[in-house]
Amino acid sequence: MSPAFHIGPWPIAAPAVLAPMAGVTDRPFRILARSQGAALAASEMITSDTRLWNSRKSRQRMNHEGEPEPRVVQLAGAEPDALAEAARRNVDLGAQIIDINMGCPAKKVCNRLCGSALLQDESLVARILDAVVRAVGDRVPVTLKTRTGWDREHRNGVTIARIAAASGIAALVIHGRTRADFYEGEAEYETIAAIRAAVQIPVIANGDIVDAAKARQVLAITGTAGVMIGRAAHGAPWIFREVNELLTTGATPPPLSRAALRAIVLEHLQAIYAFHGEESGLRIARKHLGWYGRLLTHAPDARAQCMAPDSTAAQFAVAGRLFDDWVERADAARRDAARQVAC
Ligand SMILES: Cc1cc2nc3c(=O)[nH]c(=O)nc-3n(C[C@H](O)[C@H](O)[C@H](O)COP(=O)(O)O)c2cc1C
Repeated sequence: MSPAFHIGPWPIAAPAVLAPMAGVTDRPFRILARSQGAALAASEMITSDTRLWNSRKSRQRMNHEGEPEPRVVQLAGAEPDALAEAARRNVDLGAQIIDINMGCPAKKVCNRLCGSALLQDESLVARILDAVVRAVGDRVPVTLKTRTGWDREHRNGVTIARIAAASGIAALVIHGRTRADFYEGEAEYETIAAIRAAVQIPVIANGDIVDAAKARQVLAITGTAGVMIGRAAHGAPWIFREVNELLTTGATPPPLSRAALRAIVLEHLQAIYAFHGEESGLRIARKHLGWYGRLLTHAPDARAQCMAPDSTAAQFAVAGRLFDDWVERADAARRDAARQVAC
């Protein structure tokens, strides 16, 4: 099957890709999402301040062992030279696409002018993109993730996109909100359509895509090459299978069985424990179990049960029991239905 689009030399097999999410899209989650059909999965953002790279957290964020290609590393910062150096070092460490974050509205990122705050300063945007493309553009493609503008009165996304294309940026991701919107209100796709029409490079639409039908609708409105999904993948990494199947074949795949979902969840827990170790693994797995727990409608206290254990072994045992019970209930319901038909 022909790829949905290319980022530099990399063919991207299908339109739907995983959004970078700090605290969520660690290596285990990226590998899981890719195995479930996400065509691309960027790292959590890494600061361009290399002095901060000695922390365990930063080292974990730069670990790509076992990840399918192309490995995307997202960088956040405001200094052109620092971003260029950070890009160079990450390419040396195995990054195959460098993504620049100009979309994050978080205070932690924006207390200095960076993330989506950069959208206020178009000449700085140009200098940053030029510097990073000059530093690594002959080795790997550089992409930009941004928003539709600074605020609703300053939706300069089209200008930013033109600057990006002129700088040699290989693809754009546009979240259909302004910086001032944070995550409030609904994403709008008209500005994304205007950006798509203004540049020749691939554009990926992002924001509030919750299922395959919405993905198809957003592609129809924007005409973009792809869609990026973030929050809807929390506790549902298999969303990429459904979305990409619909977008590429027009058919909805049969839903995964409960047994298959249980296997995915339990393997994900094991991967988290192996990657993060006992203490962080327990904490990070709690977050994912909080989301996976939404499946367990038969056990309203499932979330609380998964939060209580103070070791990964105990947490895994609790999750295993809950998901076994969930699978067994479906099997029992099927046996009952078959018995009734036989009678
Ligand atoms: C918990 C969380 C962490 C995020 N971290 C990042 C990040 O590190 N880099 C980035 O570019 N965007 C980040 N985002 C924004 C997402 O990539 C995405 O643009 C946003 O969630 C909108 O997409 P959605 O509606 O599909 O979730 C984050 C979002 C969430 C919810």
